[in-house]
Amino acid sequence: KNLVLLFGGQSSEHDISRISATTIATHVDKRAYAVIPVGITREGSWLLYEGALENIKDPDWMEGCPKAVLSPDGVDKALLVEREGRWDKVPVDVVFPVLHGLYGEDGSVQGLLELARIPYVGCGILASSISMDKLYTKIVVENLGIRQARYVKAALEDVVDVADLVEEVEEKLGYPVFVKPANAGSSMGVSKAEDEDSLQEAIAVAFEHDRKILIEERIVGREIECAVLGNYNPKASGVGEILAAADFYDFDAKYNNAQSQTVISPKLPEDVEETVRESAVSIFKAVDGTGLARVDFFLEQGSNELVFNEINTMPGFTGISMYPMLWKAQGVELRELVETLLNLAFQ
Ligand code: DAL
Ligand code: MG
Repeated sequence: KNLVLLFGGQSSEHDISRISATTIATHVDKRAYAVIPVGITREGSWLLYEGALENIKDPDWMEGCPKAVLSPDGVDKALLVEREGRWDKVPVDVVFPVLHGLYGEDGSVQGLLELARIPYVGCGILASSISMDKLYTKIVVENLGIRQARYVKAALEDVVDVADLVEEVEEKLGYPVFVKPANAGSSMGVSKAEDEDSLQEAIAVAFEHDRKILIEERIVGREIECAVLGNYNPKASGVGEILAAADFYDFDAKYNNAQSQTVISPKLPEDVEETVRESAVSIFKAVDGTGLARVDFFLEQGSNELVFNEINTMPGFTGISMYPMLWKAQGVELRELVETLLNLAFQ
């Protein structure tokens, strides 16, 4: 079977995607699948990568790559590769979109794959777009009665006076708060605000990333994550904990700071693990998830209450990523995990 592995992409998580894609590409069963890696540059060009799979993570991966686009034609189900001025058709059986963030994890690529009628790994259009949009995720999770951080939302076109927004935040939430673009990944455009000045600044930064933003109360607690795998009867892994080195788990702490640590099966108060697993599965189902997702929570200090943070429908598969580690702890090695994800694409 021909497996097109999409990597890179036009999002701020382009580099992480290449690392995740390297992990996945090198763990596909080559007896069952011919891996055809297609990289998307930051600018949005689609290129056929013909180098070694373990080098997908190299920053200069695109050198000498011919153009290769997935056709939306649902009869052809093909990758079109440009060679010597001609477009050759390569049949495609399945796609693994290892893309994080916008234009990849948000339903856009999933829409193309639906049109093309090609099976693909992971969540569909709806689950991807809900989960990418922090405001819509809030609405869905609110309906489940699962606790999450209180928030104030704002759309660029409605903010006539930033001072009014600041006042609303001060009234409803107090400080500190986290200011986030509604659509972003890997904490891009997210900042913490401790006072009026930093809040104004944080709002401006968030609006650079999206026209909708949210301002959330800070939840003080432990960061707990859970992996979900499956289609209509999904299973939850055990839980993991992030011990962030920085003030919060921002982009730098996540990928550039070796002191960020992950703990599998941390010691937790009684019943917390079970609540995390059950909540993760209900959130996955509520957003209409299929395939996989990692669901992140806080365990609030003092109250020991579980607070939902976010759901990632294409979680990282880097060397420090929680999703594969959580399954490994359940006895599911990467090869088996990748195989399971591919099998789920066909169901
Ligand atoms: N958005 C990154 C890749 C993650 O959630 O793991
Ligand atoms: Mg994300």
